[in-house]
Amino acid sequence: MTDRTAKLTIEDKDFELPIFSPTAGPDVVDIRKLYAQAGVFTYDPGFTSTASCDSTITFIDGDKGELLHRGYPIDQLAASSHYLEVCYLLLYGELPSAAQLEDFESRVTKHTMLHEQMVYFFRGFRRDAHPMAIMTGVVGAMSAFYHDSTDISDPWQREVASIRLVAKMPTIAAWAYKYSIGQPLVYPRNDMDYASNFLRMCFSVPAEEYEVNPILSRAMDRIFTLHADHEQNASTSTVRLASSSGANPFACIAAGIACLWGPAHGGANQACLEMLREIGTPDRIPEFIARAKDKSDPFRLMGFGHRVYKNFDPRAKVMKQSADEVLDLLGVEDNPILQVAKELEEAALADPYFTDKKLFPNVDFYSGIILEAMGFPTSMFTPIFAVSRTVGWISQWKEMIEDPAMKIGRPRQLYKGATMRDYVDIEKR
Ligand code: SDX
Repeated sequence: MTDRTAKLTIEDKDFELPIFSPTAGPDVVDIRKLYAQAGVFTYDPGFTSTASCDSTITFIDGDKGELLHRGYPIDQLAASSHYLEVCYLLLYGELPSAAQLEDFESRVTKHTMLHEQMVYFFRGFRRDAHPMAIMTGVVGAMSAFYHDSTDISDPWQREVASIRLVAKMPTIAAWAYKYSIGQPLVYPRNDMDYASNFLRMCFSVPAEEYEVNPILSRAMDRIFTLHADHEQNASTSTVRLASSSGANPFACIAAGIACLWGPAHGGANQACLEMLREIGTPDRIPEFIARAKDKSDPFRLMGFGHRVYKNFDPRAKVMKQSADEVLDLLGVEDNPILQVAKELEEAALADPYFTDKKLFPNVDFYSGIILEAMGFPTSMFTPIFAVSRTVGWISQWKEMIEDPAMKIGRPRQLYKGATMRDYVDIEKR
C-alpha cells in the first residue's frame, strides 16, 4: 500500500490518486478508481506513459541503456550464462543450482519432438509461405494436440505447457524452414544442446553427417539469450491481453508470434538486413539518411530507435561485438553488409536528427548480419526471434495467470464518432 498521493483537479473538484514506488524505475499513479470517482478516462494511445501490470521479471532503464532479467544485467548473462539457464531464471525467478539446471534441461530436451500428426500442418502451406505464417498457425494448432496442458487453472498444466512451448519452438521454426526449401524435416536429438539441435534441424541433410560448428552454436545461443524477454513490449502485451480472457497458452503465444511479425517490432531484423542490402555500398548512405529524415517519406532506418531506449540498446552492443567475432571466426572477410551497417551507424550517430531524437541502434540492427553469415535466409530472422522470445512471453503469462488480482484487459477510448441518430430507410438516403 502507500500513503503518497497525486492530486488531480478537474474544474472545481480535487481527486487524490495513490502513488506507488517500484524497486527500480519511475513511480506510478494508480488511476484504477479515477473513472468511478471523476467520470473521466486517461488518454494514452500506444501506452507511452502507462504501466499495464506489476512485474518482477525484466527491468529496462531506457536512459541508461540498462536491461536486467530478474536483476541480472543482460551483458553479464550473454557473457557468462546460456539460453536455457536464462529460461530457468525468467520462468522461476532465480539462477538454478547445477542439479536444478540439469533437471530443467533434461525436461526441455525430452519435449522437443512434435506430435507426428502435426507434420500435416506444414504440408498444408504453400512452399513459399513465410515461416512466421507457418509458426503462427502451427503454434495455435498445438492447443488441438496438447489438451492435457490447456487448463490454465491447473499449476501442473501451466508448467507442462511452458516446457512444451520452450522445447518445441525450435523444432517448429526449423521445420518451417526445411519445408520452405523442400528438404526433409530433421528430428531433434536428445544428445545435443538447445542451440546445436536447432542448427542441426535447420542445416543437416540426410546425405551427410552434420557437424555443429561450436562458433555458430555459441553465437546462436547468445542470440537466443539476447532476445529472451523485454518487459511489456508489443508482443508480450498481446500475450498478456489474450491470456487475460482465459485463453489457452498455445493460442496466446500464437497471438504473440503474430504481433512480433510486424516490421516495427520483431520483423525489423528482416527489414533491417533488406535495407542494408538495398543501400548496398557506403556511398549510398547519405541518400538513405536523408530519406529517414524526410517527413514526407515513410522510410525509417530499420534497426534504429526504440520506444524505451533513449540510449544504446545494451543488446545491440553485445550483438555488434558478436557480429565482429562470428564473421572473423568464419573468415567472412570484409563483409560489405557489415561495413555498410557500421558506416550507417556512424553517420546516423553523427547526425543531430538521430541524436536529438535519441535514436540509437536496437537489437535488430546487427542480429541479421550474424544470422545471414550463419546461413539463414532473411525470412528466418523473425522466427528465430520468436523462438527466443517464447520463454519471455510464457514467463510473463505465468506471472499474470498466477496473480490473484488478474482481470480481463478492457481498455476504453476517446470516442470521436457520430452521436445517436435514427436509422434512415434506403429510399430516403
Ligand atoms: C523491437 O518494445 C520493445 O521492447 C521491442 C523490442 C523487444 O525486444 O521486444 O525491443 C524489439 O521491436 C525493437 C524495435 C525494432 N523496430 C525497428 O527497428 C523499426 C524502426 N524503428 C521505428 O519504427 C521506431 O523507432 C520504433 C517503432 C521502434 C519506436 O517508435 P516510437 O517509440 O513510437 O517512436 P516514434 O515513432 O514516435 O518516433 C519518434 C520520432 C519521430 O519523429 P517526430 O515525429 O518526433 O519528428 O523519431 C522518429 C519518428 O519519425 N523515428 C525515426 C525512427 N524511429 C523513430 N526516424 C527515422 N528512423 C527511425 N528508425
